[in-house]
Amino acid sequence: MPKVTVHRKAHFNSAHRLYRKDWSDEKNFEVFSKCSNPNFHGHNYELIVSLTGVIDKETGYVYDLGILSNLIKIHVEESFDHKNLNIEVEEFKNLNPTAENIAVVIYDKLRKHLPNYLELEITLYETPRNFVTYAG
Ligand code: NI
Repeated sequence: MPKVTVHRKAHFNSAHRLYRKDWSDEKNFEVFSKCSNPNFHGHNYELIVSLTGVIDKETGYVYDLGILSNLIKIHVEESFDHKNLNIEVEEFKNLNPTAENIAVVIYDKLRKHLPNYLELEITLYETPRNFVTYAG
């Protein structure tokens, strides 16, 4: 059976600050520059969730994208959209909310709701030119 990858795009706006509590403001600024602004800043995150698997003979689907859309809505958008990631999202209370770490958190949130036989990959754009991928 042919293996196909299906993708669903989603979007959320969030504020964050990149910093380590155990570093001085100077050191944080040296490493994270303006991303370490103590007053936070926002990004328009673009998310692509990709699932790879064989086509189901009965439905012709790899996975129902309506169900995937709903999972993203419940587990990602409702948690992250219009939130301050550092302050309002439990996962980032002690984890720097870089695009890398956000992608891993999203992967972990979605993985447990998806069938094991599907491969999952997260692509997260923090800006139109900066993006990360994570596949577990
Ligand atoms: Ni930033």
